[in-house]
Amino acid sequence: MDYVVEMLNIRKEFPGVVANDNITLQLKKGEIHALLGENGAGKSTLMNVLFGLYQPDKGEIRVNGEPVNITDPNVANDLGIGMVHQHFMLVEPFTVTQNIILGSEPTKFGKINLKKAEKEVQELSDRYGLRVDATAKISDISVGMQQRVEILKTLYRGAEVLIFDEPTAVLTPQEITELMEIMHALTAEGKSIILITHKLKEIMEISERCTVIRKGKGIDTLNVAETSVTELASLMVGRDVSFKIEKKPAEPKGTVLSIQNLSVKDKRKVDMVKGMDLEVRAGEIVGVAGVDGNGQSELVEAITGLQKSESGTVRLNNKDITNLSPRKVTESGIGHIPQDRHKYGLVLDFTVGENMVLQTYYQKPYSKYKTLNYKEIYQKAEELVDEYDIRTPSVYTKARALSGGNQQKAIIGREIDRSPDLLIAAQPTRGLDVGAIEFIHNRLIEERDKGRAILLISFELDEIMDLSDKIAVMFDGKNIAEVKPEETDENELGLLMAGSTKEKAGGQK
Ligand SMILES: Nc1ncnc2c1ncn2[C@@H]1O[C@H](COP(=O)(O)OP(=O)(O)OP(=O)(O)O)[C@@H](O)[C@H]1O
Ligand SMILES: [Mg+2]
Repeated sequence: MDYVVEMLNIRKEFPGVVANDNITLQLKKGEIHALLGENGAGKSTLMNVLFGLYQPDKGEIRVNGEPVNITDPNVANDLGIGMVHQHFMLVEPFTVTQNIILGSEPTKFGKINLKKAEKEVQELSDRYGLRVDATAKISDISVGMQQRVEILKTLYRGAEVLIFDEPTAVLTPQEITELMEIMHALTAEGKSIILITHKLKEIMEISERCTVIRKGKGIDTLNVAETSVTELASLMVGRDVSFKIEKKPAEPKGTVLSIQNLSVKDKRKVDMVKGMDLEVRAGEIVGVAGVDGNGQSELVEAITGLQKSESGTVRLNNKDITNLSPRKVTESGIGHIPQDRHKYGLVLDFTVGENMVLQTYYQKPYSKYKTLNYKEIYQKAEELVDEYDIRTPSVYTKARALSGGNQQKAIIGREIDRSPDLLIAAQPTRGLDVGAIEFIHNRLIEERDKGRAILLISFELDEIMDLSDKIAVMFDGKNIAEVKPEETDENELGLLMAGSTKEKAGGQK
């Protein structure tokens, strides 16, 4: 069998951590090869080595059998290797085409020929069914489309091997189905794909083989047809993972969050939340189910003070908190695990410790007489790193150097630890490995049992069904139905999310 890419005995060290320790991965032509491992296991690092972003300390890379030295991403591009990163690298004010040709502009008499490039980009998009508008501005398009722009960028540069680093983490279920189709279209044309994902079902569904790594070391490469979700999970975590959530029935107390007739516009002044009512009581988890773009993000932004509401009220513990500043909202008792961890969750150039007190640094015990008490700050950070299994060389490491999943664990730990009356968890387990998801789910239920009110927003219907005590379906900016998880199923929820009425949806069960 000929391999298009071979990574043999790769080692890559960072200060304080061996990210890749003698890992071997061999990619066959035309296959989808999954790369699986816990948060911080070294997956992104290995792929960044292949894409020329890092130089391996040891080991050899071969492309079509020939040893190569991939000194930077341009060399990778020339060798036909493209990468769609975990965090997109697009320039927001630029158009799709401008982003795609960035660095490889076709020129005519020294001037960039944008029209010609637009035509090429559009043709390429149509050929692989990517449905991208070549002239749209990045800041105006959905996350799903931004990702397809990243795919186009690699194809435009002639990629034969595509690396996808957790592409489905940021996508809705509908977009995931589309991406799978795109991947099939790519391999049908002879392209080869390395896919990183934490979703074991996706691996089972779409990939031929799977390489498992744990703590920087290669564990095994399996034929997916001969394995199971359970085996994959235990191979990667090193123990059995229970996929069932144990919880007692909720014992809700008084109302903590009460939203009445709330209306919110988005940044572009489009009405997104249109008369929303919602209540969350102490000791219960209310899950918001909905197709992306039905006002969920704007609802959260309005509650947390990131976006002004047009009308209606938000009350917390019977106090009006409508349109308070984010800091005042936080101080009034709200914790927020944001959907976009880089925009609102972390300051990447601050240390892990500093990030743990982003909202509380000016309070006791972290500040005294207007000076920061670093001893207290780093002590708290050590505690959280321990409790939430945040894998980092130290609390003095910059957040940027943490793996994606470990950044997420840091935010979750910080927000839960402040013991807010209301915890808003938006896509909380995005990018987490199955072991970490199990832990966070149990943690959220513990918080519920301690009497916190939890508002969960998630595109993962499993997560909504497993965790929620009550599910509110959000459609076209409104809460159109409330159902109990034990009295519904994914089919009915799906219909409600598409705007069907409860009577109709229930009747079709
Ligand atoms: N630029 C860097 N500087 C220092 N350490 C780094 C850097 N990049 C990664 N690391 C460390 O290398 C290890 C592997 O990280 P990597 O990002 O490869 O993990 P991952 O498997 O992709 O995890 P996740 O599933 O959370 O994305 C981690 O301990 C991480 O903190
Ligand atoms: Mg990663």
